[in-house]
Formats: sequence, C-alpha cells, structure tokens
Amino acid sequence: MDSKKLELTQSYSLLDRARDLIPGVAQTFSKGPTQIVQGVSPLYLERGQGSHVWDVDGNEFIDYPTSLGPIVLGHNDPDVSKAVIEQISKGTVFSLSSPIELDVAETLIDAIPCADMVRYGKNGSDVTSAAVRVSRAFTGRDIVALSGYHGWQDWYIGTTTRNAGVPAAVSDLSKKYVYGDTASLEKLFAEYPDQIACVIMEPVGVVEPAEGYLQATKDLCKKNGALLIFDEVLTGFRIAYGGAQERYGVVPDLACYAKALANGYPLSVIGGRRDVMELFDEIFFSFTFGGDAISLAASQATLAKMQSEPVFEHLWRQGQKLQDGYNSLARENGVGDFTSCIGLAPRTVATFSDPESGHDSPALRSLIQQELVRRGVLFLFGFNISYSVSDADVDHTLEALRAAMGVVASAIDSGDVESWVDGKIVKPVFRQA
Ligand SMILES: Cc1ncc(COP(=O)(O)O)c(C=O)c1O
Repeated sequence: MDSKKLELTQSYSLLDRARDLIPGVAQTFSKGPTQIVQGVSPLYLERGQGSHVWDVDGNEFIDYPTSLGPIVLGHNDPDVSKAVIEQISKGTVFSLSSPIELDVAETLIDAIPCADMVRYGKNGSDVTSAAVRVSRAFTGRDIVALSGYHGWQDWYIGTTTRNAGVPAAVSDLSKKYVYGDTASLEKLFAEYPDQIACVIMEPVGVVEPAEGYLQATKDLCKKNGALLIFDEVLTGFRIAYGGAQERYGVVPDLACYAKALANGYPLSVIGGRRDVMELFDEIFFSFTFGGDAISLAASQATLAKMQSEPVFEHLWRQGQKLQDGYNSLARENGVGDFTSCIGLAPRTVATFSDPESGHDSPALRSLIQQELVRRGVLFLFGFNISYSVSDADVDHTLEALRAAMGVVASAIDSGDVESWVDGKIVKPVFRQA
C-alpha cells in the first residue's frame, strides 16, 4: 500500500491561530500538538461518520483514537442522533429535574453490579472526585490510596509530574501503590492505620489482573475499613456492558463510568452501595449542567443498542484481529522486540521501546503514526474499537500496518529512526520518572 504525504494547510493555519488564543492549543492534553507528528499528521478534525473521520483539509481516516474512547458505536450513530435530535426539539437543560434522569438511572442500576443508586456528572474527573469526597465523608478519614489515572482534579493530578498549582497539603493526602502488587497496598494500610478512606483503582489497565487480585484488594479494603472504588471510566461499556465488575465478578463499594456511556455526549456516572450513595443528600456534588437531557437521551439510545445488538462481541472480534495482526506483522518484520500491541481487544495500546535501554521510544511512536496516517489510519498509539469498525476497515488497517512495519524495520536497521520522521517527534504527556 502506497503512502501519501497529506495536504494539511488548513490544520496548520488553525494551529497558528490557536497558539495566540488557546494555551496548550487543545482542550485535552492527549489531543494536542505534542501527541501528533507536527507537519505530518492533522490537528483538526471536522466531521465523523461511523468509523471514519475527515480533517479540515478533507483527508479521510479510519478513526482509532475514537475521541479518546467515547465513540463506542461510531460517529453520528443513527439511533443516538435521532434520540438527541428529538430531545433537542423539546429542550436541552431545564430549571427542574427531568424524568429521563430516572429512566437512565434504572437502566444503569441494572447494568452496573455495585449500583443501588447513581448520580451523574459530565466528565470522568467529576465522578472520580465525587467518589473520593463521598468516601472521605463516609469514613471520616482523609487519605486516598490510588494506582491508576483518575483525571484532572487536585487529589489525583498532584501525584503526577503535572502537579503545578496543587498545594502539597492536598497531594500529601494521596498515596500511590502499585497495581497488581497486593503487598504494596498492605504496606500503605500498615503505614496509615485507620486513615485511608478509600482505594481507587482502574480494575484493569492494559493487562488482565492476576486471578484473585481484585478480590484480594476488596478483602484488604474491608479488613481496614476503607471503601473500594473501581474507576471504570475507560473499561465501562467497553470491555463488557457492566465493565470490569461484570467481567471479573468482583463488586466494589463504588464505581465511576464515563467515556463510552453516551457514545460521545458528555456524561459520567457514579454508582454504588445505597448507604454510601445516600450521603450525596449531604455532601456538595452539584453543577448547572448535571443531568442535562441531551446527554441522557444519547445515553439511553446507546445503552439500548448495547443491549439489543452484539456490540461487545464486535468490539472484541475486530480488536483481536487488529491486535494479532499488529503483533504478527511486527514479528514478521523483525521488530517484535521494539513494538507490540497489548491490552484487552476492545481497547489496545501499542508499546514502543528500545530493547537495549528498555525506554519508551518517541521516535518509533512518531514513525508508526506517520506511516499509518499517510495510509489513511488515524493512530494515537492504540486501537479503540467502535461498533462501526468494519471488516474492510480491519483489512485496510492491516495492509497499512504491513507497510508501516516494513518502514519501521528499515528505519531501525539504519540506526537512526529519527531521521525517518518528517516532522516533530511526539512527547509524553507526563514526564517519565
Ligand atoms: C481511568 C480514567 N479515569 C478518569 C479519567 C478522567 O476522565 P475525564 O478526562 O473525562 O475527566 C480518565 C480519562 O482519560 C481515565 O482514563
């Protein structure tokens, strides 16, 4: 498959304009200019339909970032769009609650194993932060134990390298442990006896949890009087309808869902044990757009489709074909030690490393992105599968990968991968330790 240098004039003139108007250029770090090979990949998308998107210069791509996860059915899904348009014609957000809040709550309580009750937010960060606050209120304790990524709020981001502006007094209350290592959590409980309000974790990251690991974490929380929170912002309505709780059969005290919940409309939800959730009567979790009818209508249509059609079978099947194809093409081209595709099939992640140093290789990341984008595949280092990804999309992507891996192999052989990249090398969002 031939590679085609893209016409990107509009994208880059928008970038110039944005530099004056919008600090950081993008609204989400992972959609910003540091994540794309500048000069090679587009920066602005204008339209999406199904599994495809079009940039502002008219270039068409198969969309695997899927807006960082929300587009689980496909862009402009006809059922979701119909529900949204019907709701818009009645109104968007009202001065009092709307009945659709209850309809969607009933569906979500059926879907989410731990949920006796639910409250809505707009972003994942809203509900992870609500979960932490309600846990602190419930237990009367301050410390939070965490092991994943949980959003932009102080209590979490203060533990990362992007902690500017977060008071030490706040970040000192958040303690990290190592996912998969029960002893590291035990150590925290021993170090801070009767002080840990909750353990918040992504129940599965890129690798499946070891047998019994999630249950052991739950038992530890119970023994130490802390609440267990599953952050299912990524896994919910993606790896299974009910997320990781459904897949692994371990039910936490509270859980947070967002991204795929409404096929691209901004909605998140916290659900959990009734005695904990009832505290929301008291604690302040309240905002103007909470419960807007548009996102709820989108969610209602999304959840209905997930229940009536084989959405998850499709995500696993197409994702597995791409993951297997990626790894065998990497091996065939002799670069299997440099790059691989890991994770659960509906959402896989590509790794790039220099086998000698073991460090991540931004140059290799950039080169693969370049070679794929020039063959019609939008790639931000992994594959989020949508229900619209067709067999033809998968075949096209595998052909593009075959060609890209060949270029990667030649670049590695040359000893200077960077010189094969025609634009600015991508950078990680968080500095590496
Ligand atoms: C596991 C997890 N939790 C929380 C968040 C924060 O969600 P949001 O960016 O919608 O605030 C994210 C976002 O990527 C996430 O992946």
